[in-house]
Amino acid sequence: MAILVPGGAGYIGSHTVYELIEAGRDVVVIDNLQTGYRDSVHPMAKFYQADIRDEDALDNIFRNESIEAVIHFAASIQVAESMSDPLKYYDNNLYGTMVLLRSMLKNGVNTIVFSSSAATYGETGEVPIKEDSPANPESCYGETKLAMERLMHWCAGAYGLKYAALRYFNACGAHPSGAIGESHVPETHLIPLILQVANGQRPHISIYGDDYETPDGTCIRDYIHVTDLAQAHILAVDYLLGGGKNDVFNLGNGVGFSVKEVIDCARKVTGHEIPEVIAPRRPGDPARLVASSDKAVRTLNWKPKYDDLEMIISTAWNWHRSNPNGFAR
Ligand code: UFG
Repeated sequence: MAILVPGGAGYIGSHTVYELIEAGRDVVVIDNLQTGYRDSVHPMAKFYQADIRDEDALDNIFRNESIEAVIHFAASIQVAESMSDPLKYYDNNLYGTMVLLRSMLKNGVNTIVFSSSAATYGETGEVPIKEDSPANPESCYGETKLAMERLMHWCAGAYGLKYAALRYFNACGAHPSGAIGESHVPETHLIPLILQVANGQRPHISIYGDDYETPDGTCIRDYIHVTDLAQAHILAVDYLLGGGKNDVFNLGNGVGFSVKEVIDCARKVTGHEIPEVIAPRRPGDPARLVASSDKAVRTLNWKPKYDDLEMIISTAWNWHRSNPNGFAR
């Protein structure tokens, strides 16, 4: 039996496929390649270029393959874009998930693990954030992720769907082999942008605000290695297949680093100067987002291996240095 991975050609999806294959699992990837890259898909995974909103294509795949569960990553992920084009986010994220669920259930597959986000919380003021903290998304992106969670909740009651929603904090780093890594166009995330400065592709890194209520005035985030996230998906799918109950889990290291601390750490790892410029705040950025992942540790037996920022940035640097244009090479 195989695991179906919609969005398996994206950043977190491709790393999860690598971990699944390394664990000896059979994997079928679906991706429309709008933002994902065929080159990032593990050569031992079976690949279909298809869109999750195409129900006939999904039905065919479920009929042709022997699928035991789905790990679902296919979604649009840019917070700013979601604010200017909410219809795109409701269509791809929520409607896409509705079609996927309908096809799964029709074809006798009822287990799904999927990418949710810390963006479901909004500004809670709580440190660390637990799963029962109030969810008040500040972006349309976060709202669609929360709507996906709620959709699963109602489908569980009505059709017996088994689901786990994994709320990631700041995904970062790259596969330790250097085979795959983070590659977004446009790139908006802090660590890859800093490493583009180290690579000489940008003159400086802009710090979005240094007047937050934090020790050095810059925003604090919980950076979690993509391979640790990948492992959590495998644990969650096995937990559900083993009879575990539907639930929502935070995934982070539980330690916050400020933007300035991340830049300093990258200077140490790369040996480059990495000039910085203070820029205005970016709308919608909460001052501090740090996870409590106690539930995932306790329930899924999740043990993040990369709890050291230097180690995390080293894996990212290893990838970016050798692949300055990511997969768009
Ligand atoms: N930042 C800068 N300069 C940059 C880019 C980012 O100062 O050039 C700062 C941001 O203001 C933020 C921090 O670096 O304080 C991290 O920013 P990222 O864009 O890397 O990540 P976010 O915390 O904004 O976003 C992440 C995920 C989103 C998710 C969100 C949940 O990437 O998918 O967490 O809050 F929605």
